[in-house]
Amino acid sequence: MSYMIGIDVGTSGVKTLVISETGEIVTQATAEYPLYHPKAGWAEQNPEDWWQGTLTTLKKVAQDLGPRAAEVKAIGLSGQMHGSVFLDKSGKVLRPAILWCDVRTAEQCRYITDKVGGREKLIGYTSNPALEGFTAPKIVWLQQNEPEVYQQVDKVLLPKDYVRYRLTGEIFTEMSDAAGTVLLDVANRRWSEEVLNALNISPEIMPEVKEATDVCGTLTPAVAEATGLPAGIPVAGGGADNACGATGAGIVRAGRVLSSIGSSGVILVHTDEPQTDPEGKVHTFNHAIPNKWYVMGVIMAAGLSLKWFRDNFAHMEKQMESLTGTDAYDLMSKQAAPTPPGAEGLIFLPYLNGERTPHADAFARGVFFGINPRHTRGHMIRAVMEGVVYALRDSVEIIRGMGIPVEQVRAIGGGAKSPLWRQMQADIMQLEVATLNVDEGPAFGAALLAGVAAGIYDSVEEAAENTVRITHTTEPNRALMGLYNDYYQLFRSLYPALKDRFREAAKLER
Ligand code: XUL
Repeated sequence: MSYMIGIDVGTSGVKTLVISETGEIVTQATAEYPLYHPKAGWAEQNPEDWWQGTLTTLKKVAQDLGPRAAEVKAIGLSGQMHGSVFLDKSGKVLRPAILWCDVRTAEQCRYITDKVGGREKLIGYTSNPALEGFTAPKIVWLQQNEPEVYQQVDKVLLPKDYVRYRLTGEIFTEMSDAAGTVLLDVANRRWSEEVLNALNISPEIMPEVKEATDVCGTLTPAVAEATGLPAGIPVAGGGADNACGATGAGIVRAGRVLSSIGSSGVILVHTDEPQTDPEGKVHTFNHAIPNKWYVMGVIMAAGLSLKWFRDNFAHMEKQMESLTGTDAYDLMSKQAAPTPPGAEGLIFLPYLNGERTPHADAFARGVFFGINPRHTRGHMIRAVMEGVVYALRDSVEIIRGMGIPVEQVRAIGGGAKSPLWRQMQADIMQLEVATLNVDEGPAFGAALLAGVAAGIYDSVEEAAENTVRITHTTEPNRALMGLYNDYYQLFRSLYPALKDRFREAAKLER
């Protein structure tokens, strides 16, 4: 039997898992690390922490495998997108990495857009606008704010690519992560000379871009010895967490849509050609499948909205959970279930952390709209869950508007575990919602890419189709289509009405 390892360098920690060639999870390990907020709106991590976390988890899985560790054939990497690791000539990290959730770069986004000749031009070159979370604004921020550090930069790496450097000594990136820099010509699959020139960024500091399934280095003897894994096994290009998450959920053909409710929420659809939203509200990135793309909308507070409600208003349920072991979210769902769809006019806007798709507005905030005396806590829980799905439907509508087929939703994360949330997704989006035999996130997809790099599977599509199966489907209730359409239209009308008020509130917040 052959085994593959997938590593996901996430924001709260690293997850490493081992799969067999049939896709069974053999063992897994996680290690957490801190996230630093040195100033409001800043988010940084130490690349060394990612590396130490990776080492710890690799040692643990190798130990679990015992003699089978010798049968590990390849490693695949995945990780949080957009983070910038600045290395000097000797490979030393020059400063903490600036992460995807860091919003210090509003000014740099405007600067980039101007320098390149406007938003339309930038979208033309890279398929995406400059958003605060993306990488190019972070590089420009360094140029402008820490020029003495910028002068020493020899390479800019993305998080997982730094871990690759430590595993193999090689410096590479691959298409799906490079896409999130706004420096890649996503449609033509190469760094955009136009954008690099306009920003005065030397192409020399950008790593060579490979495919997700290419072998990008091999495990060094030193790391092999430290972990107990075989020296010389290939490390695949791997992919961005969203690309690997999609791969691991079988989003490898047109028509399939991923709906992921984790802390944030993602709607992601596979495309055979690069398709760009002229307004830049959804992102167009390269898939972890050579010559394929995906279009994605990201909402900032999906599971996080329900977690916020649980932590602040569901103490009893949390206590019950600790006494009886029944999940607090299940108890909350039980209260929401008997309330009618639409929560009798109560609507929640899940903009606790501002919003990315479709508003790209850091000032937006959460709202309960339309409270009346009949409303109970059950209505509020339902409204939070429905509000998250209305916000995800915004992305589905934009994607449909681009003429991209949207046929079957594959749900992962918290939205897949809860039967009530699954039904809401089916009813509000009016689409069939499938759940899967695996819900392990990006590490699973990364392990499949490792399998392709090692020649165990012929293609990413084959790897996914052989290992990912639908276990359950939830059909939309057609009778609710009209009601939910009306509520969704009301939901959509609330943000434009409140947009300027959010800005005024932000001034008072300080
Ligand atoms: C995608 C994005 C996030 C990070 C989180 O554009 O910013 O999903 O990849 O890991």
